[in-house]
Amino acid sequence: MSAIFVTATGTDIGKTFVATGLIRHWRAAGRAVDALKPVTTGFDPAEAEGSDAGLLLNALGKPVTPEEIERICPWRYAAPLSPDVATRRENRQLPFDELIAFSQRAVSANTGTLLIEGVGGVMVPLDDEHTVLDWLAALRLPLLVVTGTYLGTLSHTLTSLDVLERRKLAVKALVVNETAGSSVTLADTLTTLGRFVRTIPVVGLTRAPDAATFKTIADLL
Ligand SMILES: Nc1ncnc2c1ncn2[C@@H]1O[C@H](COP(=O)(O)OP(=O)(O)OP(=O)(O)O)[C@@H](O)[C@H]1O
Ligand SMILES: [Mg+2]
Repeated sequence: MSAIFVTATGTDIGKTFVATGLIRHWRAAGRAVDALKPVTTGFDPAEAEGSDAGLLLNALGKPVTPEEIERICPWRYAAPLSPDVATRRENRQLPFDELIAFSQRAVSANTGTLLIEGVGGVMVPLDDEHTVLDWLAALRLPLLVVTGTYLGTLSHTLTSLDVLERRKLAVKALVVNETAGSSVTLADTLTTLGRFVRTIPVVGLTRAPDAATFKTIADLL
């Protein structure tokens, strides 16, 4: 029984890409795995297949039905904005305490490997008071942090890791996921981050990663 929380330095960095790769790896290895994306924004029920929840269900080999979407992704909002803003657009608020209780129940009930994908980056606001960091601090699960190779990522990555360390959260691995069209190479990003990130394993992920890279990441978790 193990649970891992996948977070990132920002949105669109590759959390779902890494999560689905890991799910496929674990399933191929015969491991029982489940995944949650408790909070999502930019959700269109007509395009559920391509949503994060849809992609995770697909990797899990489960049907993308309204029931399954509701099971793994109960808080869905239409606007492709941060949760605090997307909820306000619908005159709603994300119930933070319920989110924590939902996540904790899932971790307790889990009998295999459970992967929880966060939303946006480490400190994206969830409501008027809480950010993803408060969610992470409440759960205290081991973390997988995904970052990119875009210009600016070095500061975003080191800032995120520093903030997580201050809350005494355990980062099992940092995945540096090659950003499409970046002026900075994956190799240069890995070299620099390797100099500053001394205690966390750092793994590079190219745009066309092979299955072995997901095994490398999985073995660190
Ligand atoms: N290494 C990669 N190779 C090819 N495509 C990738 C890679 N990483 C990410 N992508 C693509 O980039 C896009 C953004 O990635 P992804 O959806 O995983 O980000 P995310 O961090 O989960 O975003 P969100 O904050 O919306 O949850 C997706 O279309 C995904 O398929
Ligand atoms: Mg995602």
